[in-house]
Amino acid sequence: MSLAPSTSGTMKAFRGKLHFPIIMLCTIAFVSLLYTERISILLSSNPFFKIKSCSKRGSVIKNDDHRNATEDKIDGSVVDDRFVFDPEECSVENGKWVFNRSIKPLYTDSSCPYLDRQVSCHKNGRPDSDYLHWEWQIEDCTLPRFDPEVTLEKLRGKRLLFVGDSLQRGQWQSLVCMVEFIIPEDQKSIRRGRAHTVFKAKEYNASIEFYWAPFLVESNSDLHIIGNPKERILKVDSIAKHAKHWEGVDILVFNTYVWWMSGYTIKSYWGSFPNGEEGYEELEAPAAYRIALKTWANWVDSNVNPNKTRVFFTTMSPTHMRSADWDNPEGMRCFNETKPFLKKGFWGTGSDKRVMRVVAEVLKRMKVPVSVLNVTQMSNHRVDAHTKVYTETGGKVLTDEQKADVLHNSDCIHWCLPGVPDTWNQIFLAHL
Ligand SMILES: *[C@@H]1O[C@H](CO)[C@@H](O)[C@H](O)[C@H]1NC(C)=O
Ligand SMILES: *[C@@H]1O[C@H](CO)[C@@H](O)[C@H](O)[C@H]1NC(C)=O
Ligand SMILES: *[C@@H]1O[C@H](CO)[C@@H](O)[C@H](O)[C@H]1NC(C)=O
Ligand SMILES: *[C@@H]1O[C@H](CO)[C@@H](O)[C@H](O)[C@H]1NC(C)=O
Ligand SMILES: *[C@@H]1O[C@H](CO)[C@@H](O)[C@H](O)[C@H]1NC(C)=O
Ligand SMILES: *[C@@H]1O[C@H](CO)[C@@H](O)[C@H](O)[C@H]1NC(C)=O
Repeated sequence: MSLAPSTSGTMKAFRGKLHFPIIMLCTIAFVSLLYTERISILLSSNPFFKIKSCSKRGSVIKNDDHRNATEDKIDGSVVDDRFVFDPEECSVENGKWVFNRSIKPLYTDSSCPYLDRQVSCHKNGRPDSDYLHWEWQIEDCTLPRFDPEVTLEKLRGKRLLFVGDSLQRGQWQSLVCMVEFIIPEDQKSIRRGRAHTVFKAKEYNASIEFYWAPFLVESNSDLHIIGNPKERILKVDSIAKHAKHWEGVDILVFNTYVWWMSGYTIKSYWGSFPNGEEGYEELEAPAAYRIALKTWANWVDSNVNPNKTRVFFTTMSPTHMRSADWDNPEGMRCFNETKPFLKKGFWGTGSDKRVMRVVAEVLKRMKVPVSVLNVTQMSNHRVDAHTKVYTETGGKVLTDEQKADVLHNSDCIHWCLPGVPDTWNQIFLAHL
């Protein structure tokens, strides 16, 4: 696929005033091309565990129920009153990004064999690297560092399945890369399918999987992606075709967002229209999203036994198409950004509050408890962390000529890996 479809929208986007739908249109035009490549999915997690007590920082953070006093280590150099993370009491939304060059990602795009070229920014020529050294510090609590061994222990004997779109696939790849390097070569494997990809850690009898379902519900653009959003039709009340692959999984992690943001109304149908897909109704995105999410919630409530299965929902991953949002009207989408935008509570046009409201309302009424991985606020700040032109399209890394056209070709939707999704997984692990 060529990059052409995004051009006109983008041009407008860059001339100052821009309507949200137009931004979204650029977004989607780009999305449509980015989604044509190999599809994979991931899903899984490790439930039933909770840190109950709130010990102060300074104790070693153990993912153990019972804390052992002899293991406490006092770090005399830093006085920090924040509590050890407790998902019941700590909110991951309120925090700040702190730069610390001695923080290093657990993997690189050369060390991890499971990363898609699409997100391998360094390999694809991204020159700056500060974006790798930021840590999300939440206000009242400390978020435990990600520990691969603890993670694999929690996943022992379990299937973890990530379900959703390519942002979710990024989270899956990030998690696989953050644990795979402690597993010997002959103890791990991957089986890639069109919709369903399975990474296995044999000695742990654990799998970390991804299932591609960008809308969660069924559409005519799931496996055979339709580039033109106007031609996509969603069956907002049908999910069984996908959901049969989710049964019996121990930990499910869902997301869906960016595909809804095409800037067009969503062609939706449900029930048994006599003329099938042709009988669609055009719905505003949040309205269609609400019906679809209820369909999903209903499936979860009717099919998931909360004593056996943990369910997570990753909130929307923001896009950064409009640099005026972060007070840089001269910017070129996110292309020029090498630092996060640190303004407290920053929320741009690339995260739709209406959709967030729908998510909150639907989840609140569910029978099965769903743990929210609320990554939107923290990700809002990371205007610096997208793949930009250091990505690929149609299976090929951008040519120098394409790279030079930053205005049209900067992907400000997907994240470089290592990068922001590593922090999502840090949060995921803290909830597991
Ligand atoms: C604490 O851990 C140490 C070593 O891991 C062990 O020897 C000791 O018995 C533990 N103490 C308690 C109270 O569990
Ligand atoms: C930076 O990170 C290192 C390694 O985790 C840590 O030891 C150090 O205290 C941090 N520095 C600051 C200023 O937080
Ligand atoms: C391995 O894990 C699966 C669930 O993923 C479970 O059904 C099976 O019993 C486990 N096997 C062993 C040997 O623990
Ligand atoms: C889950 O466990 C609780 C307590 O053991 C029990 O009362 C409940 O019926 C179980 N729910 C299901 C769906 O099995
Ligand atoms: C953004 O990057 C482009 C391309 O490298 C450069 O020409 C332009 O001056 C930069 N703009 C700003 C505001 O830094
Ligand atoms: C996620 O956090 C934002 C604040 O950053 C909040 O407005 C929103 O309601 C939260 N979403 C959910 C589903 O809890």
